[in-house]
Amino acid sequence: MEYIKVIGEGPLLGSVDIQGSKNAVLPALAATILNEGETVLHNCPDISDVKITLDILKFLGCKIKKENHTIIVDAKNIVNNYIPTELMTKMRSSIIFLGAIIARTKEASMCFPGGCELGPRPIDLHIKALKALGVDVTEGNGYIKCKLDNYKDAQVHLDFPSVGATENIMLFGALSDCVISIENAAREPEIEDLQNFLNGMGAKISGAGSSSIRINGVKKLHDFEHTIIPDRIAAATYLCGGVITGGCVEVKKVNPNHFGAVTSVLRECGQYVEEGKDYVCVKANNKIKSIDLIRTLPHPGFPTDAQSGILSVLSVANGTSIIKENIFQQRFKIADELIKMGADINTDGQVAVVKGVKKLYASPVYASDLRSGAALVVAALCAEGETKVFNTHFIDRGYENLHINLKNLGANIERVKE
Ligand code: UD1
Repeated sequence: MEYIKVIGEGPLLGSVDIQGSKNAVLPALAATILNEGETVLHNCPDISDVKITLDILKFLGCKIKKENHTIIVDAKNIVNNYIPTELMTKMRSSIIFLGAIIARTKEASMCFPGGCELGPRPIDLHIKALKALGVDVTEGNGYIKCKLDNYKDAQVHLDFPSVGATENIMLFGALSDCVISIENAAREPEIEDLQNFLNGMGAKISGAGSSSIRINGVKKLHDFEHTIIPDRIAAATYLCGGVITGGCVEVKKVNPNHFGAVTSVLRECGQYVEEGKDYVCVKANNKIKSIDLIRTLPHPGFPTDAQSGILSVLSVANGTSIIKENIFQQRFKIADELIKMGADINTDGQVAVVKGVKKLYASPVYASDLRSGAALVVAALCAEGETKVFNTHFIDRGYENLHINLKNLGANIERVKE
């Protein structure tokens, strides 16, 4: 059994270089199969979701070289056009390969992602879009089979600005014989990163970052080297650590524009936040102010992935805060664990009412997903006594060296294997 042991002590002080973005590297790795050659990605985080993605690429026939944070994918020979169930179920976001595999081989099959830690993970928007673009989709027995008959130009209007659906359409359309426009596209920074990477390989895509994206398919892509953007959610996690311990933490090698909604909430909490071109520094004010209402929303709204960390911070705020979760149903599972630590949180459906308490206390707690795992570590940093955070495999999905980085900032933290 493995857990992260944290003894809540003094303030976090210092700076931390932020890893490459998990949510940007996964679609970028899927995109490498569009190039019948060698593609180089720099700043790839060393996390388990990347390891699983590399296993998928190897299964498809790619040769992989990895040196530190650089991954080289040789996709000259693709030998499979399906993803085995055991790999699909290890990482539900592997659905991102669907558009890329069809683009490269004209056929693809895989099992449905099904439910995950965050609740049901439907892919109806991905399927509806692919059908509109000329893909014949058959669903049955938990499997989805896709075959491309004839490309169709189309305007795809997404009912919701789904990140995964937007990326799947971009991956499908980049290497195609059609013209596609996506309306109500997701506007996350990771979408813009994917556009920059694909265009570097020779694709013709414009509009990413806005809600209208236009894709003029091309017949061939070429070798390219790309650097993955910094992880805005990892940055938010370390800033929350700084605030909850009354410390002073600088996150470096970031793009502050990517997480303005988070820094704005930290300021609303009464914290001093300084931003530069590629850094953000938070100097905590020991009195954390409560917030009347935070709603999670698609970018540029407050990101659902940063919600758990803020919930930990607001647990020890001066007053009552309300959080409304609009993206994923199961995000408040963490509340039960924080309550074990003395937090006063009431949840009803998508709403959490958080009455700030003076202190949190150590307890064994269990991560139920990636972000709740990191947020429990954040809460433990200020809790009296020795907290053990279990289910560390969730944290490993998206954070490279979380405990080492926090130790370097002065936390009393270690990873224990029994
Ligand atoms: C991505 C991120 C995840 C983040 C989320 C929202 C990756 C690898 N993951 O996940 O960290 O929390 O964006 O910012 O980038 N939906 C449907 N039908 C669909 C697709 C989505 O109803 O076909 C719903 C989902 O259930 C959810 C909402 O749309 O309620 C947002 O999902 P989506 O934006 O697709 O998230 P992911 O791409 O899965």
